[in-house]
Amino acid sequence: MWVWCGLALIAAILVITLASHEHFQNPTAVEQELTPSEALAPVETDTSSLRDLADRHSISVGAAVLMDPFRKDEEYQTILTREFNSLTPENAMKFARLHPERDRYNFVDAADLVTFAQNHQMDVHGHVLVWHRNLPDWLTETEWSREELMAVLQQHIYTVVGRFRGQVDSWDVVNEAIDVEQKDQLRESIWLNVIGPEYIQLAFRWAHEADPDAQLFYNDYKGEDLGRKSDAIYQLVRDLVQQGVPIHGVGLQMHTSIKDAPDPRDVAENMRRLNDLELTVKITEMDVQIHGVDRPEAELFLNQKQVYQDMMQTCLNAENCSGLTTWGVSDQYSWIPYYFERPDAPLLFDEEYQSKPAYDGLVEELMRL
Ligand code: XIL
Repeated sequence: MWVWCGLALIAAILVITLASHEHFQNPTAVEQELTPSEALAPVETDTSSLRDLADRHSISVGAAVLMDPFRKDEEYQTILTREFNSLTPENAMKFARLHPERDRYNFVDAADLVTFAQNHQMDVHGHVLVWHRNLPDWLTETEWSREELMAVLQQHIYTVVGRFRGQVDSWDVVNEAIDVEQKDQLRESIWLNVIGPEYIQLAFRWAHEADPDAQLFYNDYKGEDLGRKSDAIYQLVRDLVQQGVPIHGVGLQMHTSIKDAPDPRDVAENMRRLNDLELTVKITEMDVQIHGVDRPEAELFLNQKQVYQDMMQTCLNAENCSGLTTWGVSDQYSWIPYYFERPDAPLLFDEEYQSKPAYDGLVEELMRL
């Protein structure tokens, strides 16, 4: 009797042990133990967003943001926060927008973008403090003395950079100041004409005083590869560095097209020489036009993919490239068709927010660890 009881007990222990062992081997059993929300928690898959992939490389992948769709189009915000870890106000921080009258600033749009970025763990690249365009009438229609205009610019920079101190990570301090067609290679503008070439270093010094932690950039177009324009940019920023001006980086706008995309080897060389000056570089305004090439659309999109992919690869391989921003979120709101007055599709998402081959190109490049 006791023998039978003992055997039954041993059998029972064996059954329980085997059952619990199976419990740990059987994934279904584990899943059954999870609450519904735990079971739905995100798992790492091959379809990570751009920003997840960018985070792994510690670089930023950004988009320029337009106020109209930002306020009115819910899907715009969805894509923005899902895919990008950085944003640049496309127009909201330009001079005339922020400072429409001499004694009045309007920070509403800019502040909303900054708050949005903070709420979604995105960096903000401020654009732009000193530019020859988008200036208010009160500024361009007054005859200023040099001292007066310096005071106007200083106050603008102190007020704007100070307003967003600690919230805007980096600023385009001076934009498009070079025009290689000019004698001294500096662009004609109210700033150059009234203050003189010194306006550039003054702007950097004032921005640095207003926020010593912000990264300060000189930003320009068609100076991505090697040539007269990028040489002129290089000389300008080298002189600034040698004079001890607080400049930290160069923005390469990268408005380009499948017809005349820069050679990635030249872009790499340009980044390298800027690295020798201990300057960061960032691709700040990338878009790739497909207009004017007579090929099926599918091929054009593959050509476009290649350009995006080449530039991302160049950035990832460079020691000093901190990120890549596209000048807009979807083709629907790109500035290119308006500016060039012809249809185009230069961005990563189409008009219905479907990702394009260019998007896959960036993902493929970022997946290569
Ligand atoms: C463009 C905007 O995209 C347009 O919406 C606006 O009408 C004009 O400016 N280089 C720059 C950007 O530094 O500020 C420009 O943005 C594009 C070229």
